[in-house]
Amino acid sequence: MKLKKILPLIPLLLSMPSSANSLEVLHWWTAPGEFEAQKVLKQALAKQGISWQDFAIVGSGGGSAMRVLQMRALSGNPPDAAQIKGPDIAEWAKIGMLKEVDNILNNKLWDKNIPDVVKQTITYQGHYMALPLNIHRVNWLWLNKAIFDQLKLSPPTTWNEFFSVADKIQAAGYIALSHGGTSWEDNLLFESVALSILGAEKYKRAFVEFDETVLTSSDMIDAFKLFKRLHQYVDKSMVGKDWEIASKMLTDKKAGMLFMGDWAKGLWHSSGKVANKDYLCVDVPESKNLFSYNIDSFVFFKKQHQNSDNLNTEILANTLLSEQLQHDFNIDKGSIPVRTDIDISDFDACSHKSFNDFKQSALVPSFSQNIATSSFLQSEMRKVISTYFKSDNLSAEQVTKQLALAIRAVSKK
Ligand code: BGC
Repeated sequence: MKLKKILPLIPLLLSMPSSANSLEVLHWWTAPGEFEAQKVLKQALAKQGISWQDFAIVGSGGGSAMRVLQMRALSGNPPDAAQIKGPDIAEWAKIGMLKEVDNILNNKLWDKNIPDVVKQTITYQGHYMALPLNIHRVNWLWLNKAIFDQLKLSPPTTWNEFFSVADKIQAAGYIALSHGGTSWEDNLLFESVALSILGAEKYKRAFVEFDETVLTSSDMIDAFKLFKRLHQYVDKSMVGKDWEIASKMLTDKKAGMLFMGDWAKGLWHSSGKVANKDYLCVDVPESKNLFSYNIDSFVFFKKQHQNSDNLNTEILANTLLSEQLQHDFNIDKGSIPVRTDIDISDFDACSHKSFNDFKQSALVPSFSQNIATSSFLQSEMRKVISTYFKSDNLSAEQVTKQLALAIRAVSKK
């Protein structure tokens, strides 16, 4: 969202009520599926006497939401809670704006039933600073089942198979690869390709440790070359369109394949589409046992004039992590529960795969969903990655250098 559009909203946002039993929450869950999941949350809280006040900002993966949040925070009036993820949690904690949530939950939950990678993500200087809600897998390939059946295609497991399948889908008159073409989606696509080419260890060296030998390596150049080859299969008129439109094109049988996080499954679930019937979920080619994770979490801002917010926060925490909510919310959202002890027997086949893969795979934090990187670094990376994807002039060697430079500039290494 452009600054020009946000500024007139500020007085309105500042005057929003935040009474004792209301909780103003910033988030970007505005798509079908996200909306249903959010409704589950709202209803559970309403039963506890808390009314959830939406502070929802539309836009690819929360980029616009983060900018609006910064303005609210700068004006000394942050919302009660916000959907903040990954290293951004530490950034907000560092400037002293967040409440610790160590004591809110009963210890059993934290210690036994929350995976270590989740605990690490929400911890700052030994304190829990956010409440986690779910685990999304990012590196999925989704297939339209009817198109695959009609053309007698098997799900591709290697990149060679992928290109051969894509050619056949295109020759049959369908869009081979559904892709919205926002820079956020380009970034997500590159992440999936890069993880498959680099493997978990080099991925982490590149995107978590910012190791320049990997960032400038021939593997990274190969990842960019492969990424670019995908461009020929996307519908060019989709540039700028969001992931919801691209995801819907897959289940509307307009396109054969889609790379997207499993929030797309939430969207399909909300329109009655069923896993293994309308769509198939498979690993990104050459990515078996590699799991790029994204954890949705909420932070709570310290408020100057609010007496009862401790009570609200505590109820919110226990509600978010209750068995019932973890079950109901995650079915609608397309994610798996953040608690490992939830019975998922009535989740769909893709959630079962995600649940098992999470236990058995090499786990890497998603940089495109700012779990590996702050949202600031993420947005610099996505400018470089997206410009290359759409450009006719840049080479893989050039973009590899540009990405390493952008990362060095922002991470000050
Ligand atoms: C969030 C998901 C959300 C998706 C699309 C991701 O960054 O973690 O919860 O569904 O963006 O809006």
